[in-house]
Amino acid sequence: MSRMKDRYTMPIPDDFHAHLRQSEGLIAYAKGHAGQFGRVLLMPNTLPPISDVHRLEAYRAEVERALEALPDYARFEPLFTFKILPGMKSADIEALARAGAVAGKYYPSGATTNAADGPRSFDEVEEALSTMEALGLVLCIHGEDPEAPVLERERAFLPSVEKLLARHPRLRTVLEHLSDAQSVRFVEHGPENLAATITAHHLLFTIDDMIGESMNPHLYCKPVLKFAADREALRAAVLSGSKKFFFGSDSAPHPREKKECDASASGVYASPSALPALVSLFDALEGLDSLIPFMTEHGAAFYGLPPNTRTLTLARNSWEVPKLLGGAVPMCAGQWLEWRVVQNEGTFMP
Ligand code: DOR
Ligand code: ZN
Repeated sequence: MSRMKDRYTMPIPDDFHAHLRQSEGLIAYAKGHAGQFGRVLLMPNTLPPISDVHRLEAYRAEVERALEALPDYARFEPLFTFKILPGMKSADIEALARAGAVAGKYYPSGATTNAADGPRSFDEVEEALSTMEALGLVLCIHGEDPEAPVLERERAFLPSVEKLLARHPRLRTVLEHLSDAQSVRFVEHGPENLAATITAHHLLFTIDDMIGESMNPHLYCKPVLKFAADREALRAAVLSGSKKFFFGSDSAPHPREKKECDASASGVYASPSALPALVSLFDALEGLDSLIPFMTEHGAAFYGLPPNTRTLTLARNSWEVPKLLGGAVPMCAGQWLEWRVVQNEGTFMP
């Protein structure tokens, strides 16, 4: 039985991991985050990647143009990252930090979408990592070993992270989109400077939802959804209230035709439905007390950002998640969700 009344007000959440893409995609997908998130950490795996000041400035201008097209109340604050590439020098990192980047993203070569240019080991980018540590930048890691069998890739990568942490004890490090019970334990037992993001889809679904009865390419992502025991470990981690875990949607839209084809792109377009779906999930798990810390406090504290001052209200006002938004199929498309984000200005739905 739900303990909730019909309205639920919370500080506006932050999303510490999202792909907004570029050009028309960016304009369309920014709407998925609109009015639902205070700050959004933007991933740099665009083509070409955001890996120098020139590209970061160009991307910032593009994002700002997209945000200007949104109503005032729907705008969010973008936070910028850069992709860590072999050959990067200290001076490159210093310039990116001066340009306002808050984090660098490490994609192992070949691990996911647009990651062919990534390093093959942390050793290859040691100069960049040492500089990030000295400057207080955050290191975000796509923690998968692309050589391992697909369901074991995340756990297979943990020994490399362990070595990295031993070598860089002051480098604030985030293992992104945790999917595996073993990595949950790794983060829990890791040092203070290690944290992790968790997505809505890894909290809501398992591999059976993706390929159990029929194949749903819209739930195919990297790291792939795992088993019920893994999902339980993720849920327990967020319900524990541990400050090491915070929300990152990993909203990764691809046009429908790139998902419904014979070499489906990986990524879940999660942002339009993630927050309402999580409110229902936390309520069902009797864990609503953990929702606000997970979605609004722990990430900001880890990144050294002030708490958001805006609030957001959800109402028990069921809505059907559209089957297509901006050319992409959102998470829970066609399903009725119980909670809906409303704004002071009236009912708002992305
Ligand atoms: O499934 C994924 N899609 N995982 C990632 O790490 C990247 C993302 C994308 O950019 O499409
Ligand atoms: Zn991602």
